[in-house]
Amino acid sequence: MTTELLAAAATLEHADEIGGPAQPLLTIRGLTKHFALKGGVLPGAPRKVVRAVDGVDFEVLKGETLGVVGESGCGKSTTARLLMQLIAPSAGEVVFDGRTVGSRELPLKEFRRQVQMVFQDSYASLNPRLTIEDSIAFGPQVHGVSTREAVARARDLLARVGLEPGRFAERYPHELSGGQRQRVNIARALALQPRMVILDEAVSALDKSVEAQVLNLLMDLKAEFGLTYVFISHDLNVVRFISDRVMVMYLGRVAEVGPADALFDDPAHPYTRALLSSMPSMDPDHRTEEVPLAGDPPNPIDPPSGCRFHPRCPQAAAVCNRTEPQRVVRAQQSVACLIHQAGSGHPLASLA
Ligand SMILES: Nc1ncnc2c1ncn2[C@@H]1O[C@H](COP(=O)(O)OP(=O)(O)O)[C@@H](O)[C@H]1O
Ligand SMILES: [Mg+2]
Repeated sequence: MTTELLAAAATLEHADEIGGPAQPLLTIRGLTKHFALKGGVLPGAPRKVVRAVDGVDFEVLKGETLGVVGESGCGKSTTARLLMQLIAPSAGEVVFDGRTVGSRELPLKEFRRQVQMVFQDSYASLNPRLTIEDSIAFGPQVHGVSTREAVARARDLLARVGLEPGRFAERYPHELSGGQRQRVNIARALALQPRMVILDEAVSALDKSVEAQVLNLLMDLKAEFGLTYVFISHDLNVVRFISDRVMVMYLGRVAEVGPADALFDDPAHPYTRALLSSMPSMDPDHRTEEVPLAGDPPNPIDPPSGCRFHPRCPQAAAVCNRTEPQRVVRAQQSVACLIHQAGSGHPLASLA
C-alpha cells in the first residue's frame, strides 16, 4: 500500500471509532488460577490453595495501554501468564479480537504470534549462546519466515530500538548492558509483528535514566506499529506516565479500573487511595493526609472473607467482612467497594 492509502485507511479506521468506544482487543471473563500447595499438610487435612487470581474480569481496548498495579503478590504476573496461555487457568476465558483463545477459531499457535511478552529479567530471557541478531530472528523462523527475511527483520528492528545493527547484530547477550538487553527483548517481541505486547515489570530493573529512554521507545514503537500494551508495574509513577487506563489488583481480584487520569486524580477504592498515598510525590502540594498502607501484607492462601481489603481498610464497616463487593460504575471508574454499591449496607453507601 502507498503511504496515502495507509493514511486514508488510518483515517477510516479512526472514523469508525468516532462516537463509539474503542473495541476490546482482549476480553477476560472470570479468570482464575488456584495453585495447590505441596507438602507440610497433615494427613486428612484439606490441601491449601493459593488463590493467586480469583475471578478477574477486564478488557483491553484496541490501541490502548492498560496499566496493571498492585502490591507484590496480588496476582499481576499470574494474570500475565494466564493471558499469554503460559499456564492453564483454573477457570475463565480469554477472548482475543472476538475469538476464544485455544478454540478452533483461534488456535494457540496463531494467538502466540499475535501476543508477545517482555519480562523484567533481561538476561534470563535471552539465549546466551545466540547472537542478538539470531535471537531476534529465531521467532519468525519458527513461524515459517525464511532465514533471509527473518535476519533482515532482525536488523531493521535493532535499528528501531536504537542498537545500530553494524555494531550490535553479532554480539552476545553478556556483551550488552541491561538497558541494551531489554531493547533486544523488545525487538524480539516485535519480530513476530504482534498486535499486543504484555510487559511484566519490563523496565523495573533499569536505572532511572535508562528506564525513561526505554519507556519513550515503547511509546514510539506503539504509535509506529499500532500496538496494544498491557503494562504491569509496581511503580505507580511509571504506570501513570505510560497508561491510558489503569487496573488496580488486590489479592487476586480487581479493586478498581478506569482512565489513568480519573483513577489517579480521584481514586474510588480505599485501596487505590492507600496505594497512591504511599507513592512518593515530587510535588509538596500534592501530598495527601491519608494514612499509607498499614496492616498485614496480603496473603492469598487464606484471603479475608467479604471484601479482601477490609482488614486494612480505614473505611471498613461490619458489612465488609460478610459481603463480597460487586464491580459497580462510579464516575469514570469501575470499582469493587461496598461504599459505592447502593443498598450494600455500608453506612457510607446510598440506600437505594
Ligand atoms: N507456581 C506457583 N505456585 C504457587 N504459588 C504461586 C505460583 N506462582 C505464583 N504464586 C503465588 O501467587 C501469588 C501471586 O503471585 P504473582 O502473580 O507473582 O504476583 P505479583 O506479580 O503481583 O507480585 C503470590 O502469593 C505467589 O506466591
Ligand atoms: Mg510479578
